Order: sequence, then structure tokens, then C-alpha cells
Amino acid sequence: MHNKGDRSSDHPGPRPDVFKNPFRPGAGHMPPYLAGRVDEIREFQRLLRQDHILENMILTGLRGLGKTVLLETFNPIAIQSGWLWAGTDLSESMSVSEDNLATRLLTDLAILTSNIVIGQAEIPRIGLKSKPDEIRISLSYPTLRAVYDETPGLVADKLKRVLELVAGHIRKSGHRGIVFAYDEAQTLSDHKAKEQYPLSLLLDVFQSIQRKGVPFMLVLTGLPTLFPKLVEARTFAERMFRVVFLEPLSRSESREAILRPISDGKCPVSFTDLSVDAVWKVSAGYPYFIQYVCREVFDVWMQHLESGSTPKSIPLEEITRKLDSDFFAGRWARATDRQRDLLRIAARLKNSEAEFTVQEIVEHASNSAQPKPFSSSLVNQMLAKLAEAGLIYKNRHGKYSFAVPLLGPFILRQSRRDGSQAVLPGFEQSE
Ligand SMILES: Nc1ncnc2c1ncn2[C@@H]1O[C@H](COP(=O)(O)OP(=O)(O)OP(=O)(O)O)[C@@H](O)[C@H]1O
Ligand SMILES: [Mg+2]
Repeated sequence: MHNKGDRSSDHPGPRPDVFKNPFRPGAGHMPPYLAGRVDEIREFQRLLRQDHILENMILTGLRGLGKTVLLETFNPIAIQSGWLWAGTDLSESMSVSEDNLATRLLTDLAILTSNIVIGQAEIPRIGLKSKPDEIRISLSYPTLRAVYDETPGLVADKLKRVLELVAGHIRKSGHRGIVFAYDEAQTLSDHKAKEQYPLSLLLDVFQSIQRKGVPFMLVLTGLPTLFPKLVEARTFAERMFRVVFLEPLSRSESREAILRPISDGKCPVSFTDLSVDAVWKVSAGYPYFIQYVCREVFDVWMQHLESGSTPKSIPLEEITRKLDSDFFAGRWARATDRQRDLLRIAARLKNSEAEFTVQEIVEHASNSAQPKPFSSSLVNQMLAKLAEAGLIYKNRHGKYSFAVPLLGPFILRQSRRDGSQAVLPGFEQSE
């Protein structure tokens, strides 16, 4: 840390409490400076240039990679390019039935279209008034709903009718089209037992209207389970979407994410190169962890400033411990003892941060003399359960990965604290 303010009593520097901590670890909280993501934004801009929608976008990645804030960043870009923007967070309840999905789409559309007047209607008056009252008919929710209800056929037919009707008016208003942006789209599922197929419905409807030239584009964000789920529901989904997989920030992008909020905010303190390296080491470029560690470090500095002392180094060990209890412990607590044994084995595999196979786990288990054996069918079953619990996921090539960033290093730290072996080298070093 270096102190940039003059804090002598003759020239008291700015009071430290005036400088609010700029870092924002939290789901969907816009960071003080959005680092990197240049290619992803360019890709979105490319899709916005389509006259005829051939490609929609999926923005996917592990928890805390920045999907929600990037989606939010896309919004003004789309609007500046002449598009309208509809959409929200898809919560579980909304995705249960086809009707719910239809209501969701109509509601989101009506927000954009309720001011579009499509005609006049006369209300006959009884009494002295000679002229009937005239009311304007707009594409408000009741109008959209009435068109929907009066269209014969299945939910898909009704929805297509409404979307095509709206498309005609959107074009007249001079807009290029509408972006339908849905966050947490992995929560959308078909339910065979209940005969409800909202996920397939969404894909069918958009594929059909896009083929007819309706300029409505889907942008779905979600965990890495999203795309395989879509392809399983409808194989054509593979051709319908451009999948953008969010990776951790590079070292230089992480540096920007750490330093820009400080320099832009003209804070009285700043990170030294050594501190930046330390944050990089703990966060490995994962945006949520960058925000988390920086927020903690900033708080510590402010406390030192207030008490007039100068901190020598970042208390990395303590911050990592706090992160473990805030972020990882709850997830770890949900795993059974046996599942934890399996996760420990996975965490010790050389390629655990990328992907691993059932075979690798079985081999490692037999080499490391586990108290109880792990057969491949057992490992398969257990991995399926762990995937349901959101701790790992199976990719499209049948390999597995941790679904939570940096879960492997956490497990190794945890093992060390529990008295077992293995710590990832270099991960917990203080500067
Ligand atoms: N490009 C970035 N630069 C700096 N910080 C970022 C960046 N992207 C995201 N963040 C920060 O990371 C955290 C997580 O972001 P966000 O909630 O968008 O992730 P997410 O992928 O949507 O997570 P989840 O899967 O849990 O919904 C937030 O605190 C956000 O401010
Ligand atoms: Mg999110």
C-alpha cells in the first residue's frame, strides 16, 4: 500500500471515511470498473447487426464470473443500436409451466409496447351526448392477452401470433428489433411428468418467428448446464445459439479491475505491484473474488489510516479464511462425508481446475488407499448427485468440472485445516 494523501496535522488530508469502499462483491452488483470482456461485447455487437436473426446468444460461465453484470452492460449497447430490450431474471416459479412462460413473455413485451397505439374504438353513449366517446387501443397487456386468448391452438401458436403482431408495429416505429434477455436461464426446464415443456416452447417459438424474419433475438445467460440442457430439449438449439463462455479475467485485466476503482475514485491509498500480485494469486482472475479480496483489503487500509498506522502487507491468510467461510463453507457443508472424500480426490487431480473423468478419480482413489473403495459405477452415481447439488457439472464431452470457481484449492485448504495432507502450492502465500 502507499499513502497518497498528506496527513500531517497542518495539512490534514482527506478524511478516510469520505472514501467509500468502491469494491462490490455481490450477485449482480455492477463493479466500479468492468474489466476486460472486450471480445464478448464485440460479439454481441456483431449479433446486433443481423437483419435476419440466424444467431442468438448464450452467455455462460461458473458462478460469479460476471454474467449478470455483462448482460446489464449489453442493455445500453443494444438500445444505442436501435434495439428495444425486454427481459428479466428467470426464477424457478416462472419456468414451471408453459402458461407461466407465456405470461412472462407477454408481460415483458407489454412494457415496451403499451404506448404503441394501433387503433381507435368508439364507445356508444346513451343520453344527451350526441357524439360517442373514442378510446385509443394500444398494445397494452390486456390487448396482448386478448389476442393471445382469442388465437386458436396451442400455447406456441398463440404466442407466435402475438409476437408477429408486435413485430409489425415495432418495425413501423423504426426499431431494429427486440432483444429478449433472460438471466439464470438454466432454471428453465421441461417437465415430462407434468406434460409441461416451457423450455422447448421458448426454442420452438423463437426459431419459428425468426425463420419468418421477425427480428427478435434471444440472449440467455446461465450456468454451464444451460447449453447442454437446450440441446437436449431441441437439437436445433446447437445451430441457433452462439455460445460465449466467460473465463476468468487475464492478469492484466485483473490488474485493471483492482487499480481502476482506486485511481478513478481518487482514493488516498493505492495498491502496490506486490499487493496487486497478491490479489491476483488469491482470486486467480475470478471477478467475484477480485471484488471480495479488494473490498477486504481496502477496509483494512482504511482502519489503519484512521488509526494513523501503515500496514506492511495484506493479511491474505485472514482474508482467505473469511472468504472460505463466507463463500465456500455453506456449499461444503451440504456435501456428505462420502461425497467430500470424492471431492478431495478430484481436487488432488492435476487437472482438477479444468476437467476430470470418472476413470481418473477411480485410479487416483485406488492409488491413495481410501478406507472404502470407489468403483466407477459408484463414482458415476455420486457425480450425478453432486451435479444436482450444484457442486460439479458434466460438460458436453462427458467430462466433469467443479461448478464453483476455485473449489479445488478450497478443498485442499480445508483438508489441511482438518489435518489431512495437500495444499495447493503458492495459493496461500502472503506477500
Ligand atoms: N468484468 C468485471 N470486472 C470487475 N468485476 C466484475 C466483472 N464482472 C463481474 N464482476 C464482479 O463479480 C461479481 C459477480 O458478478 P455477477 O453477479 O455478474 O456474476 P454471475 O456470473 O452473474 O454470477 P452467478 O452465476 O452467481 O449469477 C460482482 O461482484 C461483480 O461486480
Ligand atoms: Mg448472475
